[in-house]
Amino acid sequence: MLKNIQPTQTKAWSTLQSLFDDHAEMQISELFAEDAQRFDTFSRQFNEDFLLDFSKNLITEEILASLLDLAEEVDLSGAIKAQFSGEKINITEQRAVLHTALRNRSNTPVFVDGEDVMPKINEVLAQMKAFCEKVHSGEWLGYTGKRITDVVNIGIGGSDLGPYMVTEALRPYKVDGIETHFVSNVDGTHIVETLTKVDPETTLFLIASKTFTTQETMTNAHSARDWFLNFAQDEAFVAKHFAALSTNAAAVTEFGIDTANMFQFWDWVGGRYSIWSAIGLSIALTVGFDNYEELLAGAHEMDQHFATTDFKDNIPVLLAVIGIWYNNFYGAESEAILPYDQYMHRFPAYFQQGNMESNGKCTDRNGDPVDYQTGPIIWGEPGTNGQHAFYQLVHQGTKLIPCDFIAPAVSHNPAGDHHPKLLSNFFAQTEALAFGKTKMQVESEFTASGKSAEEVADLVPYKVFEGNKPTNSILVKKITPKTLGQLIAMYEQKIFTQGVIWNIFTFDQWGVELGKQLAGQILPELSNDQCVESHDCSTNGLINAWKAWK
Ligand code: F6P
Repeated sequence: MLKNIQPTQTKAWSTLQSLFDDHAEMQISELFAEDAQRFDTFSRQFNEDFLLDFSKNLITEEILASLLDLAEEVDLSGAIKAQFSGEKINITEQRAVLHTALRNRSNTPVFVDGEDVMPKINEVLAQMKAFCEKVHSGEWLGYTGKRITDVVNIGIGGSDLGPYMVTEALRPYKVDGIETHFVSNVDGTHIVETLTKVDPETTLFLIASKTFTTQETMTNAHSARDWFLNFAQDEAFVAKHFAALSTNAAAVTEFGIDTANMFQFWDWVGGRYSIWSAIGLSIALTVGFDNYEELLAGAHEMDQHFATTDFKDNIPVLLAVIGIWYNNFYGAESEAILPYDQYMHRFPAYFQQGNMESNGKCTDRNGDPVDYQTGPIIWGEPGTNGQHAFYQLVHQGTKLIPCDFIAPAVSHNPAGDHHPKLLSNFFAQTEALAFGKTKMQVESEFTASGKSAEEVADLVPYKVFEGNKPTNSILVKKITPKTLGQLIAMYEQKIFTQGVIWNIFTFDQWGVELGKQLAGQILPELSNDQCVESHDCSTNGLINAWKAWK
């Protein structure tokens, strides 16, 4: 079981605090000037095609060693064992956390309550495979005998963000003849706009919901069903066009989906960790089941690395402790994830949920309020778009924003010189952020360009880049299903590691409940024209203004 150790009470934390105070003036440029081998010391390779360079960080070997001591002191090793062995580490929900079992390609038994879960995982994978083969081969036909051409995944949060992110990231692997769409928002626009693009005779709806009770998903699912029946006119045809990805067989049956069309998963799969479960069906239908298996294999490789590698060489652990250094000692509030790969455009949004829903907690594992910072704000956009939007603030703003830069060495679209241009930006940005541009450099550039001494003096303060902004660079050979699986598992295990160190519960999400509860109370109040007085005056005022305008 996880040990409930207050990180701030550890010896390593005190050491880190002293090191932070002693290194207040630390400059990345000086760290590089002092050590020509810094890249070798602070980079790690995973397999032949995955490189993490963390040399452009505000760390020394001594700081890194203390950060790793912190991981030892809070018993990260014990926590990793507890996670992989199916202990109920999600204490507030009394659940095991076993997305690692879903991608356990070694098939070694994993027990929950004395039962090996691998046979049932393999059974659902076989069901998914058979289903994909039927759809792709044309054996599975719509109610008028036509092949399926469109898949609409209806889900939200973990039942949407992951499948959407992965199908986009793996677009080059798309099977011919299938277009996939994602509907998540309860805003009617989302389903209405999507339904204009598809044909009821050739569309398969996947209702993706762990609980099968989520308001957004059930509302969209019912609208999709009504739309379909408006054409098909016979409930019997629902079976050919609706499948459910869920843990809740009773609710699936009640909705009218045959349990033969239900792909099951279990309560020990967290929503934001569910792409490895039946929730991944839209991925398998889009890129083929073999590629989906490769995604699982990549994640499994990263899991193995995480579970068996010394912390000093352990990529998720290194990323986690570096994040803690900035979050808890430098007071950095956010982290940016910047994929230099257009196909990965939803990757930052995916880990916004992955990270913020997991570690956005203010109560520790003893039930006490924390008096230190926990999960960071995660954000980002693909390069180079971000460069022309928010990098100004990263370079010259007043906030410290540690950034992860991710890029593939080889593009799926090697058109002209696009990729060298993209990568020149990838390399240049971390260099600029780390080393900046001094006053002297700016002055000599100006003088060389023939500017007057007066002009130079006026502009220099604006053109100086102080640098010293930390980054990690992750370079992979190519974004394949396998490397994508590795990248996702890497961040998942980074998040897990940080949650262990912060002594919080990473796998529940009680913070999303209150809003849902209040919306449930407000909804009936919106069904009549009566003036509402049951809330605070702001909420009453807004509801009543809406009633007047609708
Ligand atoms: O936002 C809360 C949450 O429970 C997420 O954790 C989850 O991914 C999402 O809602 C969707 O839940 P479900 O899959 O049960 O519809």
